[in-house]
Amino acid sequence: MSKSIEVQDLNVYYSDFLAVEGVSIDIEPRSVTAFIGPSGCGKSTFLRTLNRMHEVISGGHVKGRVLIDGDDLYGPGVDPVLVRRHVGMVFQRPNPFPTMSIRENVLAGAKLNDKRMSKSDADALVEKSLQGANLWNEVKDRLDKPGGGLSGGQQQRLCIARAIAVSPDVLLMDEPCSALDPISTFAIEELIGELKSEYTIVIVTHNMQQASRVSDKTAFFNIAGTGKPGKLIEYNDTATIFTAPTVQATEDYVSGRFG
Ligand SMILES: Nc1ncnc2c1ncn2[C@@H]1O[C@H](COP(=O)(O)OP(=O)(O)O)[C@@H](O)[C@H]1O
Ligand SMILES: [Mg+2]
Repeated sequence: MSKSIEVQDLNVYYSDFLAVEGVSIDIEPRSVTAFIGPSGCGKSTFLRTLNRMHEVISGGHVKGRVLIDGDDLYGPGVDPVLVRRHVGMVFQRPNPFPTMSIRENVLAGAKLNDKRMSKSDADALVEKSLQGANLWNEVKDRLDKPGGGLSGGQQQRLCIARAIAVSPDVLLMDEPCSALDPISTFAIEELIGELKSEYTIVIVTHNMQQASRVSDKTAFFNIAGTGKPGKLIEYNDTATIFTAPTVQATEDYVSGRFG
């Protein structure tokens, strides 16, 4: 089930270092939001606060609030492990379990939630998730072969299948195409367009064309200099960010003048 994300004045720290400062942003359900900005401005850091992955890093902590459909992700008693099951993440490099079969890769997260799943339920979930990731036709005859034997683009779709197999509310993607060739990139972009009817999707990308192709809204982050915190500079409809941004720095970035 797709859910909204509301971030209120979030500061993100690595121990004493303030990496991202004062982000407030509202993300609608069933939409794709792109995070863009120069390297080191905190896109990945901020993204990881949306499923509490940031705290896995020693010294990683936040101040401020993140609400998913109104519920505070950082509220007392909230279990970060459960949060990570509801807010899925796909990384820059495809990271399937290489020796595990394609089938077991898809089921890896889901089995943590439901250890007693029947064989027929598991089969149905594998097919549905691989269909959802546009990978079923390519792998249906070799589900018991290792995930590591797939091409890079197929591995990334396998990771997406694994992420959606647990029926998350939100899907976070950190430069999911940066290690892929153009054809695989196109396949993932198409898939993102289909998945947004069911999920709230946030994607970090350094590719301006990709942001304008796949996203409804775009958030531009920037950094004033080394050691300074990254900030959200401008957030709007993607078309507006790319054709008529309000802030000069946004204009400079999207037109390729820096970054
Ligand atoms: N594990 C970490 N420990 C300490 N600082 C980090 C860590 N990861 C990233 N940073 C710092 O946080 C800032 C933002 O980095 P990052 O979120 O990776 O930026 P982006 O994804 O926009 O390139 C940078 O100054 C970076 O050096
Ligand atoms: Mg990054």
